[in-house]
Formats: sequence, C-alpha cells, structure tokens
Amino acid sequence: MVSSPNTQIKPLSFSIQEDTQDVLLGNIPVQELVNTYGTPLYVLDEATLRGMLKAYKNAFASYPGPLEILFAAKANLSMGICALVQQEGFGIDVVSGGEYYTALQAKFPLEKLVFNGNNKTHDELELTIANGIGKISVDNFYELSLIDRIAKHHDKKVSILLRVTPGIECHTHDYIKTGLLDSKFGFPLSQLSSAIDKITQDYSETIDLIGLHAHIGSQIFETQPYQDLAEVMLNLCYNIREHYGMTLTHLNLGGGLGIAYQPSDDPLEVSVLAETMVSKLVDYANQISFPLPTLILEPGRSLIATSGVTLYTVGSIKTISELPKTYVAVDGGMGDNIRPALYGAVYSALIANKPNEPHNTSVTIAGKYCESGDILIRDFMAPESITSGDTLMVFGTGAYNYSMSSNYNRVPRPATVLVGHGKAQALVQRETYDDLIAHDLIPETLLTQVTS
Ligand code: LLP
Repeated sequence: MVSSPNTQIKPLSFSIQEDTQDVLLGNIPVQELVNTYGTPLYVLDEATLRGMLKAYKNAFASYPGPLEILFAAKANLSMGICALVQQEGFGIDVVSGGEYYTALQAKFPLEKLVFNGNNKTHDELELTIANGIGKISVDNFYELSLIDRIAKHHDKKVSILLRVTPGIECHTHDYIKTGLLDSKFGFPLSQLSSAIDKITQDYSETIDLIGLHAHIGSQIFETQPYQDLAEVMLNLCYNIREHYGMTLTHLNLGGGLGIAYQPSDDPLEVSVLAETMVSKLVDYANQISFPLPTLILEPGRSLIATSGVTLYTVGSIKTISELPKTYVAVDGGMGDNIRPALYGAVYSALIANKPNEPHNTSVTIAGKYCESGDILIRDFMAPESITSGDTLMVFGTGAYNYSMSSNYNRVPRPATVLVGHGKAQALVQRETYDDLIAHDLIPETLLTQVTS
C-alpha cells in the first residue's frame, strides 16, 4: 500500500518538479521553505485558500435572497488572514475578545463581524459593543442582560441573532456536535419564546432581534442534517411571526462542512451542499409563505483546511525489533497539532524530499512532546529509506492546528507562511524563547535568600 494522498487532500498548487524531483508548493520548492523558515512550519497555499473562498461564493450565488458568508476565525486566524478574507468579500465569525481584537487591528470592516460564543464575558461584550460589531449571536439570558446594560451605557442598539439548539443529529465526533438539546451552546427550543418575551418587553431600547442562528456540528459529510436544519429554522421564523407578528430577516445556518483528511474520506462538494440548502430554503419558504431571509453561513474548516500543510523534520528513529515497530519522531507534535491526540484525527502525509520513492514501510510518526499519546500518524507508509533530516509534509492542517496550538513543554509555536504568486510571505513569525518568558515574573520574595 502506498499512502500517497489523493487530489482532494493535496493543495491545488502541489506539484513535483520533473528535473529536480522537488516538491513545489505555490511554485516554491519545499526545501527552500524549510531552509528559510525552519521547521515545524505551517504553510498556507494562497491559490487553494482563495479557490475555496470563491467556490463558496459561486456555489451559494444561486440563493435568491441576500447572502453573507463569514469565515469562522476559530479555524485559523491571524491579521493577514483577516486581510485575505476581506479581499474575497467575506465577513468573519469571531468567538472571543482576542479574535475580535485581531480583526479590529487588521482594520477589518466591523459591520461584517458576527460575535458567537456560549459565555461571552462582560469585557468581551464591552470591547465589541464599544468599538462596533455587525451582529451578536446570543446564547443565553445572562448575555441578553449584559448586552442590555452595556448597550445602554454606550447609547447603542445592538443587532442580535438568537442561537438555538435545533435538536438535529449529525454523524461526527461527540466533541464537535453542537446542535443537540444536550449542548452547552444556545437556547433550547423550549426557552426561545421566553427569550423573545424578555427582549420585546425589557430590552427593546437596546436590542434589535433580527434573526436566528444554529450550528449543528463540524466535519459533516451528509446533506440531510442541513436540509433538516433549513426547515426547522424557517419553521421557527414562521412560528415567531405567527405569535409575535415579528418577521425575522436573518438566518445563520452555521458551518460544519467536512473535508478529506485521508483518501477514504468522501466529503460533500460545496456545490452539492449549496444546491441542497438553497433548494430546501427556497421551496420551504415558498410553502409556508415566508420571505427569504438573509442567509448567513460561517464555515471554517472547509474554507481553509486543505490549503494548509505542516512541514516537520525527522529526528530520532527508534525501532523495537521485538514488536516489530518503528517510531519516527519529528520536531513538532501535539503542541502544533492537538487533533490526533484529542479526537483520534487521522492525517495523510508524504516524505517531501523523496516524493517519488514508494511509501511502503509502515512507521509511527511520533511528536516530540513528553506524552505517550503524542502520536501524529499511526501506520504512516514511509519510504524504506526514511532517515533523520527528511522532511515530513502533513496535509490538511490549515484548520484547527495553529488555532489550537499551545506552548506545552515550553516549545515555541511555528511560523505560518503564505505561498502564492511565486513567493513565500510570513503571516505569523515563529515564536522565540524570549516570547515564552515575556509574561513571566519572579516576585521579589523569590529573589531574596530565605533564612530558616
Ligand atoms: N460556527 C460555529 C458557531 C461553530 O461553533 C463552528 C465550529 C463553526 C461555525 C465552524 O465550523 P467548521 O465549518 O469549521 O466545521 N476543533 C474541532 C472543530 C471544532 C469546531 C467548533 N465550532 C476540530 O479540530 O475538529
């Protein structure tokens, strides 16, 4: 078996130069990236990223009502990414003061931001409301009262959506399911009318309820949950109009579209998702005579995952002949990609300096962190000649790798470079040891000798 990744997993601009056998990303030899920026290194391919952003826009252009597509910042955010998604006409879904601040500093148009999250703090709401925010998707009663207080203080009226848990089952990892009744996110449907009562009776000066929001989960491969979602949400809008005479104008149906991490994965094309969702929305709105709302979508993974690869350098190789088993350790691991350890996520990879050697020897790719569970890829098919100094290129790491990275073991985070137009440009610098100690303090009492 050869573990060469299929075309869905490779970035669009991945190629192998015939004469030198160099693997190229955005026309740049991978070895050049390694030499210039070091490893581990996150690389984002601009052509693939822009291609996915455009594919979403084109696919949903058939929606006859207004459309707002947001990039879910939690997948991978830095100021350069804000600039790129802005160029492509996207908004951003932020879920923390930090994500909001990144967009603010990148001069992102604030009216195109939606603030999500199940426990937005007073300070986060203060930051966003004071500086400006397009919409807030409200998760609970506590948040309604905070927004009311802060908006009053700033003499502002805030546009909100109410996030609900529509009770829709989708087949994905338990940790990344969010639309079920037993979820920390959003209002259960049974509390929706109390929330609307509260807004209309107590908060009408400060809060403008414009729509509903739901996100059913992540890494979804089926169309059915999205069809169900469209119907359930339109139905709620219909019922709200019946009971309150209020016509909601916005519907945020979240993100969640899955991608291929391994050749056996068979994700939906964006065009198929769009066709199913759009026809459901149009048909059902027609059936219940409800005006088509502004459709908001907030995909993360499916926009950016496949444009990312991570480059590592192979270090120690340990063979346990009794088992037999070979551990190939690389210079990163769970600090830069927690997904295998956290979700049992499976990745596809290539030894980038030996792209044409048959990858036919099973090894275990281990990280460098002090945890037995720090295994990046089990049963990776490597070239027989795999050796220290080789470059491992892991595909599909553009989402939820950098954004979930940590300094565990006090390892600095890798740099991120964007390759495109024949050049590589840093989006995020590699952290230094000084960055690691930048917030450390040694209190005076610890500096003086204690005599007992
Ligand atoms: N909107 C909301 C409200 C969300 O909670 C999420 C993801 C998204 C949009 C974007 O979902 P996407 O299109 O990326 O599936 N760390 C996990 C994924 C967690 C997703 C959390 N919410 C992973 O690495 O698989």
